[in-house]
Amino acid sequence: MHQPLTSFKSGPLSGRVRVPGDKSISHRSLIFGALATGTTRISGLLEAEDVLATARVVAALGAEVAREGEDWLVRGRGVGGLRAPDGALDFGNSGTGARLMMGVVAGHDIAAVLTGDASLCRRPMGRILTPLKRMGLTVSEDRDTLPLRLRGTSEPIPIVYELPVPSAQVKSAVLIAGLHAPGRTSVIEPEATRDHTERMLAYFGAEVAVEPSDRGRVISVAGDAELAGRAVAVPGDPSSAAFLVAAALLAEGSDITVEGVLVNPTRTGFYETLREMGADIRYENERDQGGEPVADIRVRTGALAGVAVPAGRAPTMIDEYPCLAVLAAFAEGETRMEGLAELRVKESDRLAATAAGLAACGVDARIEGDTLIVTGGSRVGGGGTVATHMDHRIAMAFLTLGLASERPVTIDDSGFIATSFPSYIDLMTALGARLEPAEGNGA
Ligand code: S3P
Repeated sequence: MHQPLTSFKSGPLSGRVRVPGDKSISHRSLIFGALATGTTRISGLLEAEDVLATARVVAALGAEVAREGEDWLVRGRGVGGLRAPDGALDFGNSGTGARLMMGVVAGHDIAAVLTGDASLCRRPMGRILTPLKRMGLTVSEDRDTLPLRLRGTSEPIPIVYELPVPSAQVKSAVLIAGLHAPGRTSVIEPEATRDHTERMLAYFGAEVAVEPSDRGRVISVAGDAELAGRAVAVPGDPSSAAFLVAAALLAEGSDITVEGVLVNPTRTGFYETLREMGADIRYENERDQGGEPVADIRVRTGALAGVAVPAGRAPTMIDEYPCLAVLAAFAEGETRMEGLAELRVKESDRLAATAAGLAACGVDARIEGDTLIVTGGSRVGGGGTVATHMDHRIAMAFLTLGLASERPVTIDDSGFIATSFPSYIDLMTALGARLEPAEGNGA
């Protein structure tokens, strides 16, 4: 059943809030906890559908996973110690969960069927399977989409792999499989992608090296690794905070602070871009939290100007383009967002979905190759119904647009917001935003 939702012109938004834990770090803390010996205590885990699917999967592979008070505890089985699951491993909507877990299966002498929802079963898995097959993974089906039956090996072959696409998921899957290999496994990334895997593997005791080279960063991990259970405090997710920050920039007279947000430079391209557009955004109380930089982000409403966002910045803000495109609709002049090929293979074709949503709201947006060009101005009509295509970020981006457009904006389905940000509607409402179930019920 679709759950349509409408956002109305709102403001001012005010208050101090926290967003839920970072999705990337949450998945990794469960997976590395399962591969460690001893207990991993996770505080601030993102309790959203994507991450809960990963928790169920690591339990199905033999790790003990339990919630204790506000924390989650994982009792791991050691690298190579997971067992074959009884049934299929269902990752729901989560590409990160499915792809990182392929690296886990590749490094174990087990067979497993991996599957997911309709959106995930359309997404390309060949980018992961190619290097993992070189390491010894066998795949029963002759295709590169889920569901797939995989068989790993207890002796994966250590490889040197240069990423053909800037994907932290591919990098991570190869490094995870390499934990059980007899020798060093290396990934070369011509463009730096989010580095949580290398940071957290080192924190769990793996021997990880990161070195520059003329082909890009080389990240390598020593095989026959032993990981030890650790305490992980998950910082707030900058990709979720982006929607609150964007809402405050647009809803007249707003002043909000989002506390405890991850500001790892491999994730902050969105905030850098907003500053270039003239936004009043400050990092306050900058600190270190378990090896990751964290800050409180304060933002106040202000006029924005269009900018050119270079392709090289895309990996540091890949999930934020739908939100940025909505902000660009309100910015004076043209915003060019280059190098967006990867957006086509996210939870939906986000390049097409973003352009179509903007057009439905009366915004001048066009796609030229892999570039999205939005021509903005201070008045945006709104009034449209936006198709979200099972994509949480498309849903939240266009609700943001409706908070500042002349007419309300309806999204066809708010249900998928729960994959990454279940408290979104409550948090936005508490800040002062007007979001209401749409008249009538969708299909
Ligand atoms: C993620 C990497 C990114 C990002 C996704 C989370 C991760 O995907 O879009 O939401 O946690 O490694 P790619 O690796 O495909 O770029």
